[in-house]
Amino acid sequence: MRLTQEQERKVESILARMTLEEKIGQTNLESPSIVGGFDVPFEELIEMLTDGRLSNEEFGKIMATSSRDYHEDDIRAGRVGAMMGDDPVKANELQKIAVEESRLGIPLLMGFDVIHGLRTVYPIAIAEAGSFDDDLFERTASMAAKESRAHGINWNFAPMLDVARDSRWGRVSEGPGEDPRLGARFARAKIRGLQGDTASDRNYVAACMKHYVAYGACESGRDYNTTMMSTSMLHNVYLEAFRAAVEEGAASAMASFNDLNGVPCSVNPYTLRTVLKDGYGMNGFVVSDANGIKECVAHGIAADEEDAGIQAMNAGLDMDMGPHIFKNYLKKAVEEGRVPMEILDDAVRRILRVKVWLGLFENPYVPEESIRTYADSNVPEEHSTLALEAAEKSLVLLKNEDNLLPLDREQKISLVGKLADSRTEIIGAWAMSWQERDCVSIREGLEKAGANVRYFACGGPEGELDSEEIRQAAEWGDVIVAVLGETDAMSGEASSRADITLPGKQRKLLKKLLKTGKKVVLVLMNGRPLALGWEDQHVPAILEGWHLGIRMGDAVAAALLGDLNPEGKVASSFPAENGIEPLYYNHPNTGRPGSRSKFTSRYLDAPFEALYPFGFGLSYTAFSYSGLKVKEEEGGGAFEITLRLANTGAREGTETVQLYLQDKAASLVRPVKELKDYMKVTLKAGEEKTVRFRLSKKDMGFYDNSGKYLLEDGLFKIFAGGSSRDCLEEEIMVKF
Ligand code: NOJ
Repeated sequence: MRLTQEQERKVESILARMTLEEKIGQTNLESPSIVGGFDVPFEELIEMLTDGRLSNEEFGKIMATSSRDYHEDDIRAGRVGAMMGDDPVKANELQKIAVEESRLGIPLLMGFDVIHGLRTVYPIAIAEAGSFDDDLFERTASMAAKESRAHGINWNFAPMLDVARDSRWGRVSEGPGEDPRLGARFARAKIRGLQGDTASDRNYVAACMKHYVAYGACESGRDYNTTMMSTSMLHNVYLEAFRAAVEEGAASAMASFNDLNGVPCSVNPYTLRTVLKDGYGMNGFVVSDANGIKECVAHGIAADEEDAGIQAMNAGLDMDMGPHIFKNYLKKAVEEGRVPMEILDDAVRRILRVKVWLGLFENPYVPEESIRTYADSNVPEEHSTLALEAAEKSLVLLKNEDNLLPLDREQKISLVGKLADSRTEIIGAWAMSWQERDCVSIREGLEKAGANVRYFACGGPEGELDSEEIRQAAEWGDVIVAVLGETDAMSGEASSRADITLPGKQRKLLKKLLKTGKKVVLVLMNGRPLALGWEDQHVPAILEGWHLGIRMGDAVAAALLGDLNPEGKVASSFPAENGIEPLYYNHPNTGRPGSRSKFTSRYLDAPFEALYPFGFGLSYTAFSYSGLKVKEEEGGGAFEITLRLANTGAREGTETVQLYLQDKAASLVRPVKELKDYMKVTLKAGEEKTVRFRLSKKDMGFYDNSGKYLLEDGLFKIFAGGSSRDCLEEEIMVKF
């Protein structure tokens, strides 16, 4: 976020005119309260839902029958800095009050969870990350920004940048996977896409990178759980994407729920102030997660809400997304000197900066002509086409024995599994304003593509199997395509699973289908890597479909019928079995690396290696790698790495060539391999190309346990290949 001097002056001049109450008002992110019939504040309603006093169904009913209090009086009085919003008409109304009726006319930020699209939903992040396509990451983000702005949303709670290495964690679905470098490239592209070049253009929004920080390392993959890690691990792995996002200009960040080494991230001066603001120089603001400040009392680090509020503000948290902790307690705390005025001023300055930079003072409203664009009409053609491209590029072919796929168009396909006929489950977690009518189920996709297909539900992630339908499916089809996996509610927030095999009776369903003797293709629809050891052993072809968004059905049909050649890779390693998570390719080595021998780092009863490692994904064609060469550039600042890539199969295909590095001997134990770069290459059948990477020496270091970046001379290994497992390698001596 770059502001001109004039813009900075504007911020200062507003700040200079503000009363203490108005300053505190800017730090308050307000949500509409639910009123009528059930008269409690919205936050309490959420708490009741969270602690089980209210079921999802009851909550839904209340939401449908109640009305909202939008706190117009508070807005008028300057007590609100930002609102949760998703209704452009309402957004304009509230904005008008803020701009025309409040004393200083400061516009509101309107925040919303636009995680992987708003009206047009594209693939969940873990899937999209597997496309390894930075340009795509950026374009889908721009599309989301454009739709957001037309909905009155000017602040997106995205991108989610948590490195996630334990697939039990439900939020694996929301972020770019297990690798910090891929995460950093994803972060940069998303910030560019959301925020654009000129933020004053009405098609862009302020991004909110989250969850800051290390939330993905929650112990045992249980959501909201504690995190413990060394400073070196924090900087090398969990901070990299955030660092990149700040360099790209991220306007805001959201503090995560977890404590990090004993200090909750909402009140953590090291992560908020030392690292993010003073270290990276982030000039935007940090908002808490929902109730995050208040929860510091439950964490046991604050005596009461007031104490939590004071700690949070002093630590560098600038805005409260929760039950009015700043609003209720900051005034007295500032007056008594427990929160210095300079700290409050710093928070307000950061919030105002985002508003000025976004151009909200000049363009506070959603223009009349765009208000109805997405809510009432169809998804614009170009957005739908982009959603299709994203879905196509995110599909991953995991197994294809005897080239069972693609299917012959004439074959009779028995399509099995309740997920195959669903328009709602293809969307995935955290999709908020989409319309069912825009979606294409897998069944519809196959029908549209002219496949000879008949649908038999047979069973799904929940409920019983239907033996009669299974019998009919086996009898009718030449081949069975079983669409199995997770419902959208099985991943996302508060959706950790201890057992990450196919849920319910779906493995049993597969067994029954296989027993019929018909060939079975497994199409997966899921929000996390699943433990697929059994499936890999028994099912001849497996296509990973994730939750691919509104055009999932078209993309899957195209892949099954061979109209497209899959090119996606997995952005997170898949285990063979439960019990071996966390699992990630770039782990530090042990003194006894896992092997066949008993006294090594392994399990007696399960493989220690990934079934499908990070970066893995097949194609309908085949690629071969040869001739890896590493040469130091003249001047000695970088290495040039070249290799030959050949398409040795029978059709055109796209490969993601990956470059990895290992520091063989360093002052701290380093990962066995870490991704440094990647490149997508499209080759015609029989075509061959030289692929060239440039690895800067500056990129060959690591952070130590004081957070200092070190470049240490010595032996390194360079790897290049089509996955983190299958690589050519070459050792080099490096002098910095
Ligand atoms: C809680 C989630 O952790 C966060 O990702 C989300 O942005 C906020 N709630 C607001 O909905």
